Amino acid sequence: MIKVAPSILSADYVNLQPDIEMVEKAGAEFLHIDVMDGQFVPAISYGPGWVKAIRPISKMVLDVHLMVQNPERYVDAFAEAGADIIGVHVEATEHIHRALQMIKNAGVKAEVVINPGTPVSAIEPVLHMVDQVLVMTVNPGFGGQKFLPETIKKIKKLDQLKQTENYDFDIEIDGGVNDQTVKACAEAGARVAVAGSYVFNAEDPTAQIEALKNATK
Ligand code: DX5
Ligand code: ZN
Repeated sequence: MIKVAPSILSADYVNLQPDIEMVEKAGAEFLHIDVMDGQFVPAISYGPGWVKAIRPISKMVLDVHLMVQNPERYVDAFAEAGADIIGVHVEATEHIHRALQMIKNAGVKAEVVINPGTPVSAIEPVLHMVDQVLVMTVNPGFGGQKFLPETIKKIKKLDQLKQTENYDFDIEIDGGVNDQTVKACAEAGARVAVAGSYVFNAEDPTAQIEALKNATK
């Protein structure tokens, strides 16, 4: 059964606490926090202050996805704010190895992220040092986009590498996840599913979280 990471990008910002409490009660293990800088992606979302504010109200794993150019500039701030996992895009820095080292040195779980147009080979040299790999299943930047099925091949490839090389990471997927698209991803080896609009734009978010789990039993 897959772990679910609701993305607060689609939550109600003026009623964030009730939304967070609802998804935690519904069994979500992770809370996905999408940080956008207006450069790596066009939108601007939120910064470390949000993580600091959320930390005391939830026991969920705070899964911070940095869609930020040169993310190493912000690693320490998000670590201090209380992030459990920090994800950095291989496309956003000349120094992905250093960025991941910084995350680990800050005592936080390190995640490398790849866009749909980036091959698995681009992150092979750092796979031994990460706790999680995030395979973007849409192009980053917005919630509510359509799942890209060609990304499933990359999930399979990562899962194979994980087995042959004895790596320790979990595979997470992000973008266009629903009770249909999640199935093939879980079969391919994904263990954590981010879901924004599918959870929060529904009348009953609790039922949506259950549906994701039931679809991957
Ligand atoms: C997209 C973000 C996602 C987003 C997913 O750039 O990384 O986490 O919230 O939204 P949905 O689930 O609606 O595709
Ligand atoms: Zn995300």
